[in-house]
Amino acid sequence: MCMNSNFSTFVGLTALGAYVPSEIVTNDDLAKRGVDTSDEWIQSRTGIKERRFARADEFTSDLAIGAVNDLIKRYGENVLAGVDMVIVATSTPDALFPQTAALVQNHFKLEAGAFDLLAACPGWLYALSAAAAYTRSGICKKVLAIGGEALTKILDWSDRTTLVLFGDGACAGIVEVVPDGYGFKSFVLGTDGEGAKHLNMRCMNSKLPDGSLLSEKISMNGREVFKFAVRVMHTATKQAVEQAGMTLDQIEQFIPHQANYRIIDAAREYLELPPERVVANVDRFGNTSAASIGLAMREAIDDGRIKDGSDLLLVTFGAGLTWAASVVRWHEKTF
Ligand code: UT7
Repeated sequence: MCMNSNFSTFVGLTALGAYVPSEIVTNDDLAKRGVDTSDEWIQSRTGIKERRFARADEFTSDLAIGAVNDLIKRYGENVLAGVDMVIVATSTPDALFPQTAALVQNHFKLEAGAFDLLAACPGWLYALSAAAAYTRSGICKKVLAIGGEALTKILDWSDRTTLVLFGDGACAGIVEVVPDGYGFKSFVLGTDGEGAKHLNMRCMNSKLPDGSLLSEKISMNGREVFKFAVRVMHTATKQAVEQAGMTLDQIEQFIPHQANYRIIDAAREYLELPPERVVANVDRFGNTSAASIGLAMREAIDDGRIKDGSDLLLVTFGAGLTWAASVVRWHEKTF
């Protein structure tokens, strides 16, 4: 497991954009579409009320481009000046290749390298850690780190337990050198491949180590993932805070992966955090996997919960089974 906080150059997020498709699908809408479920069941088990569905002709690259357009709208065209690397964290790329990041690079005509990163729901935090390493080492100066998912395209409509959880969306952050004291203070990155069987999807004719063929759609053992999630959310949080040389009471906002309100609440209780220090919007967007933390963080910046200099804890879990956590001091730049 990687755990690092020994940083000599300060790098961090300086801008954040977000995008969700316009179609809102409520729990009742799912029932109307023939799913044997109810608003009461979904809300009581997950806290989710609605999620966004991408149009049939809208793919992860379109959502990613939407999030970058939001960056431009908020910060001006200069926000992209000097971007020399594009990373798209996604489990739902438009194609196996070319990489979705290349489609984003081409759309904005960036003079940049581009690659996709697959680390499931923690993908965006892994992308931020890669972006931090690139910018801190000097290999890159300015990285566009995107988390984007069109998960509703890979739903198994015969599995009502899993399909009600997911939604589509994207976030886009800029990572570069920041003034001293700001930026990333720690990263915790871990994986336990023993849990691969609990959350997966086939890619061509892929098999699990025991030889069993994987499903062509998302397949999940919800109970196992739930137990893993609750455990890892609070252990990774504690490790990231400790690595940053801080204590939990110094963290102003805790931004967990938006998978299920019960998981968020269980982690909150373990960590003894008051609800006002925990950002949650899973009720309106469901689980958007690699996009979820960025979408939640953008909302909390917009409503004033996150301010310049706020110390934040980002923590996430997902397929792999994988987890990631980071402490970051937010610094929004004018471009
Ligand atoms: O980023 C990836 C993260 N993945 C997750 O966060 C998933 C974590 N896991 C979970 O959130 C929960 O396990 C679920 C929400 C997926 C499921 O909740 P659960 O309490 O583990 O439900 P269950 O699968 O044990 O099912 C309980 C009951 C069953 O009925 P019986 O056997 O008790 O009569 C299911 O058939 O609920 C039934 N059920 C449903 N009923 C209405 C399952 N899905 C549904 C549904 N609507 N959609």
